[in-house]
Amino acid sequence: MTAPFPTVRLRRLRASAALRRMTRETALDARDLIYPLFVCRGEDAQQEIPAMPGQYRWSVDRLPAEAARVAGLGIPAVLLFGVLGDRDKDGCGSAAWDEQGVVQEAVRAIKRAAPELVVITDVCLCEYTDHGHCGLVEDGRVVNDATLELLARQAVSHARASADIVAPSDMMDGRVGAIRAALDRAGFADTPILAYAAKYASAFYGPFREAAGSAPQFGDRRAYQMDPANAREALREIELDIQEGADMVMVKPALAYLDIIARARRRFDLPIVAYNVSGEYSMLKAAAQNGWLDERRAALEILTAIKRAGADLIITYHAADAARWLREGDGA
Ligand code: PBG
Repeated sequence: MTAPFPTVRLRRLRASAALRRMTRETALDARDLIYPLFVCRGEDAQQEIPAMPGQYRWSVDRLPAEAARVAGLGIPAVLLFGVLGDRDKDGCGSAAWDEQGVVQEAVRAIKRAAPELVVITDVCLCEYTDHGHCGLVEDGRVVNDATLELLARQAVSHARASADIVAPSDMMDGRVGAIRAALDRAGFADTPILAYAAKYASAFYGPFREAAGSAPQFGDRRAYQMDPANAREALREIELDIQEGADMVMVKPALAYLDIIARARRRFDLPIVAYNVSGEYSMLKAAAQNGWLDERRAALEILTAIKRAGADLIITYHAADAARWLREGDGA
C-alpha cells in the first residue's frame, strides 16, 4: 500500500467558501429551532432575566408581538413556561391546570396572533408548587403515581387552550402513558406529546430556575431526573416513552450529552429534539460579554454540532439570534 499523501489532500475541498458550502454535511436552518418563552402575570411586562441576558419574562399582552417576530424569522415553534408569584403557588401546583392560568392565556394569545406558529407547552409542576418539586411531596419524597393525574390534568388544560404539542418535563415514571390516555379521553387524540425522555439532573438548569422561580425549596431532583453518568439508561427512558405513546423524544441538556443524542439517533426513528439549556446559553453569553468568545460563531458552532450529533430539532434561547445570523449568512 502506498501512502495516501500526497495523492490525497483533504485541504483541496476546504480551499474556498464555495467548496466548503458544497461539501458541508450539516446545514443548520431556522426551521430546526424552537424558541422558549417565559410568561408571567401583569401588563406590559418585559423583565430581563439577570442570568440570561437577552431573555425576558413576558406578560401575556406582550407575547403576540414577540411571537410574530419569532415566526417572521422562520422559527416554526415556541415552548412556553409559566412564571408565578409565590402566592399563586400551593402544595399540589393547582394553578397548573387553571383554565385562566398564565400559560393557558398565553397559548390563546399566541394562536390568535400567529396561528401558523406551533405552540408547545411545558408540562410540569415545579413552576406551580410552593416546594418547587416537579410532583406531589409526601414525607419529604416526591411521589410518583399520585402526580400522574395532576400532570394529565395540566396537559389536558393546555390542549383545551389550543396548545399544539404538550411536553412533559417532570420525569415521573408512566407520565407519557397517563397524559396520552387523558388527552384521548378528553377528545385530544391528535395532540402530540414531546417527551423530555432523557432528562438529566443537571447543574446547567440553574439560570432557568432563577427565571422561572422553580428551584426546589429542599433537596434536589436527583431522585427523579437522571444521573449524568448514565447512557444506557437514557435509551431505556426513551424506549419506554415511545412505548407509552411519545411522538417526539428529547435529550436534555444538549452540549454535555451529544453522545446520548447520537446513540438515540442510531436506535430510534422518531424525531429527536435536543434542549440547549439555560446554563449553556448563560455560559456563552458571559464569555461573549467579557470579550472572550465570539458569540455568533460560538453559538452557530454549538447548534450545528447538536444537529450533527443527530438532533432533528433544537430548543435554544439563541433561536431568534441564530435565525437572524443564518439569514445574514454565516460568513463561511
Ligand atoms: C421544569 C423544567 C426545567 C427546565 C425545563 N423544564 C427545570 C428543571 O427541571 O429543574 C430547564 C430548562 C433550562 O435550563 O433551560 N421541570
